[in-house]
Amino acid sequence: MRHLMSPLDLSVEELDTLMDLAGDIEKHPDKYAHICDGKRLATLFYEPSTRTRLSFEAAMMNLGGQVIGFSSADSSSASKGESVADTIRVVSCYADICAMRHPKEGAPLVASMASSIPVINAGDGGHQHPTQTLTDLLTIRSLKGHFDNLTIGLCGDLKFGRTVHSLIEALVRYNNVKFTLISPEELRVPSYIREDVLKKNHVEFQEVERLEDALPDLDILYMTRVQKERFFNEEDYVRMKDFYILDKQKMELAKDDMYILHPLPRVNEIATEVDSDPRAAYFKQAQYGVYVRMALILTLLEVKLPC
Ligand code: NCD
Repeated sequence: MRHLMSPLDLSVEELDTLMDLAGDIEKHPDKYAHICDGKRLATLFYEPSTRTRLSFEAAMMNLGGQVIGFSSADSSSASKGESVADTIRVVSCYADICAMRHPKEGAPLVASMASSIPVINAGDGGHQHPTQTLTDLLTIRSLKGHFDNLTIGLCGDLKFGRTVHSLIEALVRYNNVKFTLISPEELRVPSYIREDVLKKNHVEFQEVERLEDALPDLDILYMTRVQKERFFNEEDYVRMKDFYILDKQKMELAKDDMYILHPLPRVNEIATEVDSDPRAAYFKQAQYGVYVRMALILTLLEVKLPC
């Protein structure tokens, strides 16, 4: 039985197969409409979510399966003090696969060790968010056709942004991918990303503060929200929340084929006037999230695929 805790749990070849499957699902949804009849997905969300939870639920329903779960810790027995290990033991009796989001780093991993069904990490604190990465990779591949030789800018809260950590880990496995890490000093990537992921893999990267300086060279700009809920004090958050605002004027500095991605939710970091720019890909990206989660559910459940 396989779980998904980090994007590295899938090899580059497996990722390719998964993205091909997502592509086929997009083209021929009817072929997959009953493939999970009688199967159940549990969504155990101890932290707020819109896209991740609903796209998982939509994914399972599109496959003919059913969904059970909770959308906040308050409405689960966690509020009575139950451990994730006990919860998953019980949920294993009710469902075939589970997606878990938790504010504590490593909680889905702890759950996976006690689980008799596949567990998918749907975001653990400021650590990892592998299914967002699958979404991001599918989006980049469909826009650019490949990953090799791309210069990727990641901008905003690189310290607490789990989507950033997972995306970097996944992308360093391709050839000659370069990173420009754009953040205020206080929100730079954690040292394990800099040392154990980037430097160890001999990946070219630079850390800069000004978005304007970085923009002209980028092939992809991955914007992120300042992660309010991970700050220890309100003052620091207020100081940094509007550090970056991508607007039409700044977009003039970017290449004509530089696409903007954002895991969403957006707060102020992308002005709404940018939404109509053909390079704004963040809503399309959210749509890809459903296809890739459908492909992931089929893969982890080892469902026999239609020809
Ligand atoms: C992200 C998350 O939860 O980490 N959202 C998402 O899953 N699409 C990004 C964020 O909350 O800023």
